[in-house]
Amino acid sequence: MIIRTLCFIVVLLLASGLPAEEGRQVLSVNYPPDGTIMEFGIISISLSVPKGSADSIRILINDREKLKLVPDREVECFSVPLTVGVNRINITAEKEKSVAGNISLNVFRRSDLESLYKNPPPGFQKDYFHMKNREQCVACHVLKPAAADKKPVSVSAFPAEKLRRGDMPAADSTCYSCHKSLVSYPFTHGPSAVWSCLSCHDPAASPTYAVRKPDTKVCFGCHIEQKEKWERRKYFHGPFTIGNCTICHSPHASDNPSNLHKPIWDLCNNCHMDKGSGRHIVAAVGGSYFHPTSGKRDPLRKDKELSCVSCHDPHASDSPRLWRLNVGSGFELCRKCHAD
Ligand code: HEC
Ligand code: HEC
Ligand code: HEC
Ligand code: HEC
Ligand code: HEC
Ligand code: HEC
Ligand code: HEC
Ligand code: HEC
Repeated sequence: MIIRTLCFIVVLLLASGLPAEEGRQVLSVNYPPDGTIMEFGIISISLSVPKGSADSIRILINDREKLKLVPDREVECFSVPLTVGVNRINITAEKEKSVAGNISLNVFRRSDLESLYKNPPPGFQKDYFHMKNREQCVACHVLKPAAADKKPVSVSAFPAEKLRRGDMPAADSTCYSCHKSLVSYPFTHGPSAVWSCLSCHDPAASPTYAVRKPDTKVCFGCHIEQKEKWERRKYFHGPFTIGNCTICHSPHASDNPSNLHKPIWDLCNNCHMDKGSGRHIVAAVGGSYFHPTSGKRDPLRKDKELSCVSCHDPHASDSPRLWRLNVGSGFELCRKCHAD
């Protein structure tokens, strides 16, 4: 009896708050698996943290702290930002100032715009979240899409002004509970702003929610005015010709007007590296002039900065140099801004 009581006390002591040893594991990661490939700038993480096992959890990415939280549920879910390339995610749980658990995993964020990061290093693979059952998640989240995930969205009747004032519609969407950070940027694309995710994502596709390719098949479904305007022109921009709209535009949201992945100047220079100097604009004139391509006001669009699209249409044009402003020669182009 005495021995039994002693054993009981020892077990109790062990279970309740003896200082944790280095490396003892209280954490487990429900999502993501190690070695996943991601496309976008944010990854979702779901952790199991037994009650009382940790006072705080710190998330470091490539040695920089991205988030610190005080766990108050057995399952903690959150999102953290990713940079392009390999992201080494380190998750540390602390209990009474010592390490109670530590997990590291690597995620690769690829990008079509950065040639260095187009292809993942060996060992990384895509883990299609919605191709598996995810019973663990269904305990608290709804995964089966609902009618509200596909709303009628019309470009002409879209209440852009209302949304710009930050008046987002109530999130009756299934997707919202997990993907809410997808639209947490200053510029949000119409259908994503109203959580009409199934306007583009097909639940019956394989992989689940895949979007039809090329992009024009979905984009021109709503942007009929642009389709008619652009397809009537004689010359098309390289990425436009192959229907790759999302190499420049995020279908969800971004930091830049027109939901562009980068500010216009950076976006264009990404693929036309020698054009930023503006030398090409005045090369034909001879001499050693450089023409500004940024940092000045656009004389024809007073509210915008001079940039590559002051002279070029990123989609289509009747000039082989993709000039906008409906001009037929370089000289005519100059005259639009320099009347003299
Ligand atoms: C025990 C209940 C529970 C389980 C199980 C659970 N979640 Fe969550 N999850 C929540 C709650 C509650 C929130 C809202 C948290 C908040 O808003 O602070 C949430 C939020 C999220 C978010 C949004 C985080 C953010 O801030 O952007 C994602 C992503 C998520 N969960 C993914 C998952 C995945 C994936 C699984 C399965 C591996 C899962 N969850 C399992 C309860 C749970
Ligand atoms: C339980 C949480 C949860 C819910 C609810 C959810 N998703 Fe996801 N989804 C995820 C996670 C986690 C990923 C992996 C990528 C990431 O971390 O964001 C993902 C990935 C995706 C992908 C990329 C392809 C894939 O399978 O990895 C698409 C597209 C997607 N979700 C669309 C949707 C849409 C549309 C809805 C609503 C009908 C939805 N999701 C609801 C958690 C969720
Ligand atoms: C205008 C069309 C469009 C709308 C609306 C849209 N998406 Fe997407 N989404 C895409 C395209 C295109 C991709 C790129 C993947 C592909 O080509 O299959 C994508 C990719 C994703 C991914 C994968 C990101 C990754 O890292 O791989 C997630 C998650 C996602 N969408 C969730 C959503 C959610 C949630 C909504 C609703 C708020 C939504 N999408 C609305 C077109 C759209
Ligand atoms: C379901 C309909 C729908 C689909 C599909 C759709 N869009 Fe849109 N798009 C809209 C709406 C609505 C707006 C908001 C119009 C406004 O702001 O007045 C918008 C706005 C835009 C804008 C910003 C326009 C501006 O003046 O700033 C761009 C860029 C854009 N969409 C590109 C795309 C691309 C690229 C695709 C394909 C990946 C796409 N859209 C697919 C409905 C759609
Ligand atoms: C090379 C990059 C690039 C590609 C590819 C591209 N866009 Fe754009 N798009 C832009 C830029 C830059 C703007 C902003 C132009 C401005 O401010 O004058 C824009 C503006 C828009 C707008 C706003 C309204 C308008 O008429 O200008 C829509 C809608 C749009 N794009 C849709 C599309 C669709 C649909 C596709 C695919 C067929 C596409 N874009 C392909 C760069 C691109
Ligand atoms: C994803 C890569 C990519 C991006 C981003 C991009 N372009 Fe292009 N661009 C191309 C390709 C590919 C071609 C066609 C091949 C060629 O002629 O160089 C092209 C051709 C052009 C041409 C016509 C060249 C000729 O034949 O006279 C112009 C002008 C141009 N781009 C301007 C722009 C502007 C302005 C932007 C930014 C809004 C931009 N590009 C962004 C890939 C890109
Ligand atoms: C002030 C007007 C103007 C601006 C701003 C401008 N361009 Fe041009 N661009 C031209 C003219 C004019 C030509 C024709 C040059 C020739 O044929 O000698 C041209 C030609 C081009 C070509 C194709 C011909 C070649 O030389 O390869 C590309 C690609 C191009 N520009 C990209 C850009 C990019 C990227 C930017 C922004 C960094 C930009 N342009 C800014 C006027 C402009
Ligand atoms: C979209 C408007 C626009 C077009 C088109 C344009 N420019 Fe310019 N240009 C500007 C702006 C803005 C400046 C900067 C003026 C300043 O410094 O305030 C500038 C400056 C110049 C300068 C430098 C001299 C000065 O006034 O500071 C020269 C030379 C020049 N442009 C030549 C040309 C030539 C040649 C063409 C045709 C190939 C052309 N520009 C087309 C907007 C334009």
